[in-house]
Amino acid sequence: MRTLELAGSQVPVIGQGTWRMGEERSRHTKEVAALRLGIELGMTLIDTAEMYAEGGAEEVVGEAIAGLRDQVFLVSKVYPFNASRRGIPQACERSLRRLNTDYIDLYLLHWRGDYPLAETVEAFEHLREEGKIGRWGVSNFDLDDLEELASPACATNQVLYNLEERGIEFDLLPWSHHHGMPVMAYCPIGQGGHMLANSTLKQIAARHEATPAQVALAWILRQNGVIAIPKAVRPEHVQLNAQAAQLQLDIGDLEALDQAFHAPQCKQRLAMV
Ligand SMILES: NC(=O)c1ccc[n+]([C@@H]2O[C@H](COP(=O)([O-])OP(=O)(O)OC[C@H]3O[C@@H](n4cnc5c(N)ncnc54)[C@H](OP(=O)(O)O)[C@@H]3O)[C@@H](O)[C@H]2O)c1
Repeated sequence: MRTLELAGSQVPVIGQGTWRMGEERSRHTKEVAALRLGIELGMTLIDTAEMYAEGGAEEVVGEAIAGLRDQVFLVSKVYPFNASRRGIPQACERSLRRLNTDYIDLYLLHWRGDYPLAETVEAFEHLREEGKIGRWGVSNFDLDDLEELASPACATNQVLYNLEERGIEFDLLPWSHHHGMPVMAYCPIGQGGHMLANSTLKQIAARHEATPAQVALAWILRQNGVIAIPKAVRPEHVQLNAQAAQLQLDIGDLEALDQAFHAPQCKQRLAMV
């Protein structure tokens, strides 16, 4: 699978999300198996957060990466209300325990909260010095937040980006490219919802003998510097997502998708879920 440099490591352009994992004990085995299959297929970047199932998703990840830690690039996120000088090290320790590891490759502020950014950054840097995290970054930061942060140490910004939510193309994405900061696209397949029923998407998928979700992923990956993190539990979804990295859309496909899903013509406030 194609890779790019993120936080000093080569990571695959398609990783694995984990939101909604860890919520039901009855789904636990399937979720662990899905992540392990994804790792086997090259989707070795795993994205999680203390928020997901209040630690339950991190426990699923911890089990999935047992014996495979060195192969995996682990991303987790801290709640904004824990993002203080005292709160961050404690939250990180809890995450490490659940993940059953002694370091997180990339630790993100989940969204901006009330603590001053300088305090959060200082706490992140302290964790980095201690070797508890490799690098740090942010999530759901709009351009004005990133400019205020103004830190070359910030490794990424994880934001909502898919065919239906293209707002970042107007300003955030060009800014990120200019500053050499990879963007992580969350909800890349629109949470498996109605976006996938779009007729243009279906036609393009049929022409490539692919699925609409694969086209949606290939569309995100048409550009450099972007990583997509679809979440999948069904094994067939995991397989299809891993294969999507090979799908090349042509100029005709991209033009048709621009007709069906319009690019932003002016600044839009950053969308979030
Ligand atoms: N930073 C943030 O604030 C933030 C916010 C939202 C999400 N995220 C991260 O981004 C990840 C992805 O976002 P998301 O989980 O909300 O949405 P998503 O990845 O766009 O969609 C997940 C849904 O799509 C289905 N699916 C997966 N692969 C498919 C395929 N090939 N064909 C058809 N359906 C498919 C999944 O079903 P099955 O599970 O049944 O296979 C699941 O229902 C999250 O899991 C999380 O790690 C971060």
